[in-house]
Amino acid sequence: MWKYRYQHYGGPEVLERVEAESPSPGSGEVRVRVRAIGINPIDWKLTRGDFRLLTGFKPDRTPGADFAGVIDEIGPGVRGFSSGQAVFGMLPLLRAQGSYAEFVCAKAEHLAPVPDGISMTDAAVMPLSALTAFRALFLHGRIAPGADVLINGAAGGVGSFALQLAVIGRARVTAVSSAENQSYCRGRGAIHTIDYSSADPLQDGSALYDLIFDIAGTLSYRRAIDGLRNQGMLVTVHPGIIALCRSVLPRRDGKRYHLEIVKPDGRRLHRIAEHAAAGRLAASVEQVYGIDEVETAWRRSMSGHVRGKLALSV
Ligand SMILES: NC(=O)c1ccc[n+]([C@@H]2O[C@H](COP(=O)([O-])OP(=O)(O)OC[C@H]3O[C@@H](n4cnc5c(N)ncnc54)[C@H](OP(=O)(O)O)[C@@H]3O)[C@@H](O)[C@H]2O)c1
Repeated sequence: MWKYRYQHYGGPEVLERVEAESPSPGSGEVRVRVRAIGINPIDWKLTRGDFRLLTGFKPDRTPGADFAGVIDEIGPGVRGFSSGQAVFGMLPLLRAQGSYAEFVCAKAEHLAPVPDGISMTDAAVMPLSALTAFRALFLHGRIAPGADVLINGAAGGVGSFALQLAVIGRARVTAVSSAENQSYCRGRGAIHTIDYSSADPLQDGSALYDLIFDIAGTLSYRRAIDGLRNQGMLVTVHPGIIALCRSVLPRRDGKRYHLEIVKPDGRRLHRIAEHAAAGRLAASVEQVYGIDEVETAWRRSMSGHVRGKLALSV
């Protein structure tokens, strides 16, 4: 099979396409022939060596977490999936053998069937971003109908799903994006939009929100905490020593802080698939690239201004 590989940390130019032996599914796993791959910033951040304390100083890795494809082999102990079935899912973030390959082996419990009417590219871009959003809003944030939610970075991969999922949860969403993406956010259900280039979303210091989801990582921590109502939660997706400390230290002001690190989760992916099948949740794919265009696609992702998601078609 073919796969992308890197043996040095660096930009997209360190990727090489090589021939390798196809993996065999272990217990509880299926092997999937990959049809489409969802691109996430973590793909190029890991390749750049941003997390080398966790990924090692001499990498031999294949990038990628998100994929959709067709099951071609079932490992021992797998129930509920069959050969030829279209499935989608994400691999654990730090796994050395990622999804930029002809075949991937994945735990069946991390997958969900691709809903009828959803394309392989739309399915492939959902798992990591939509699960991040789902976990932030519902698992940790526990937003209730009528909650006021601020999403900072609402037009990107995670933000587009967070916006739609919050609306599904009947929250009232204020979306922060560039001026160009205000109508995109309103079209996905935001009731207020803020252009970050002309206004500070938290400048008046009022406690307006039950949940602030700082996806872009540009909000002041102090102002964001002040912008929360009592029992409100600030969620970040940007790991680091300070975020880690803040997430474990007890607070005395009745407000909560959560550092989200997404994990594969088939059960919640089924819920996401149901919303997609019912037309409540849509993947918005800015562009689908060919499998030979990874470098171009990554450079677009690295711009930090993708609207929705980017995909690779195999
Ligand atoms: N910890 C985790 O588990 C986890 C999971 C997923 C993602 N992440 C991280 O979360 C970040 C976002 O991921 P993503 O997939 O959503 O990225 P993305 O698709 O590249 O989206 C980035 C978005 O940020 C917006 N943005 C840029 N500057 C901004 C600013 N100053 N204020 C508000 N928004 C701004 C852009 O919107 P405009 O074009 O409108 O400016 C763009 O739509 C990345 O750093 C990623 O690594 C972490």
